[in-house]
Amino acid sequence: MKTSDRVFVAGHNGLVGSAVIDLLKKKGFKNLITVEKKKIDLRNYNKLEYYFRKKKIDYMVMSAARAGGIIANSRNQKDFFLENIEIQNSLLKLALKKKIKRTIFLGTSCIYPKFTKIPIKESSLLSGKLEKTNQCYAIAKIAGIKLCEALKEDYKLDIICLMPTNVYGNNDNFNKVNGHVIPAIITKVEEAKREKKKKVNLLGTGKPLREFIHAEDLASAILFSLKIKKKIIQKQFGYKLPILNVGTNQEFTIKKLAELISKYLSFNGKILFDKKSPDGTFRKKLDSSLINKLGWLPNIHFKYGLKKVIENRKN
Ligand SMILES: NC(=O)c1ccc[n+]([C@@H]2O[C@H](COP(=O)([O-])OP(=O)(O)OC[C@H]3O[C@@H](n4cnc5c(N)ncnc54)[C@H](OP(=O)(O)O)[C@@H]3O)[C@@H](O)[C@H]2O)c1
Repeated sequence: MKTSDRVFVAGHNGLVGSAVIDLLKKKGFKNLITVEKKKIDLRNYNKLEYYFRKKKIDYMVMSAARAGGIIANSRNQKDFFLENIEIQNSLLKLALKKKIKRTIFLGTSCIYPKFTKIPIKESSLLSGKLEKTNQCYAIAKIAGIKLCEALKEDYKLDIICLMPTNVYGNNDNFNKVNGHVIPAIITKVEEAKREKKKKVNLLGTGKPLREFIHAEDLASAILFSLKIKKKIIQKQFGYKLPILNVGTNQEFTIKKLAELISKYLSFNGKILFDKKSPDGTFRKKLDSSLINKLGWLPNIHFKYGLKKVIENRKN
């Protein structure tokens, strides 16, 4: 891979896409391609294909998706299902049409069964029932992986599927209803502090465990995957589709997470949990030893990364 290669980052304004753009720029990539959603809705393959008809793409990062936390997922199942399937179908058809040299497909740890051996290995895919609250999102992502598999097996298209754990970072969606757990709790605690409340109410029991990765670390795993030599991939996976978990081994209970956020925001009120609301999967720590053995390791310690995200909000 050369810094003159043309890299299309789909979803460049999002949490992950923006971190990928920042990293590629920092590494000297000069030909980054981005398309605003206002101009082309990625669900519309015909428009997308027409837009790129005279443009070359060497590499593609699929960081466009309909993503969100437990409430967003469970209240908008149809949209999470259709939008993700339509975006990934369109982008993968484009990869085939343009003979893109390597595509990075982003899945999620939600694709794995609700009850499975921890840490979760890539081989647990489709070995059990999914968590109900995000099953439409998970099934859409699994359909994407299966399409990647078909394109790899039938057309020799070079695709790597990454399964990141929960991502956090500066460019997150801080909506307290639709956001993921970290930004949603930050916003709720900020609000409680601003309104001088003596307590903050959070969802679930606080007992589930979550593993977190900073968007900058995920971006480094994406660049690492774009660059892995073909012969190394072939040695590891033969002609099978490479699927790699991307985690950090840094796991906390939601209660501990809320305590850390309160501490960094200097909120001294009580943290209360609404035990009637859903918890989601209890634990989904990934086994990331495969990508670690290939040579990628995370860099950002969770408490440091979280503190930085909160400091960034204050500025
Ligand atoms: N965040 C996590 O915790 C997490 C964990 C595991 C895996 N992932 C995966 O990582 C990838 C990136 O997630 P993220 O957290 O960065 O999501 P995000 O912040 O919501 O960003 C998604 C981006 O996709 C764009 N997009 C959505 N629908 C589109 C459409 N129809 N046409 C064009 N652009 C569209 C959005 O554009 P607008 O901003 O204009 O809407 C946004 O910029 C996703 O595949 C997600 O499943 C995320």
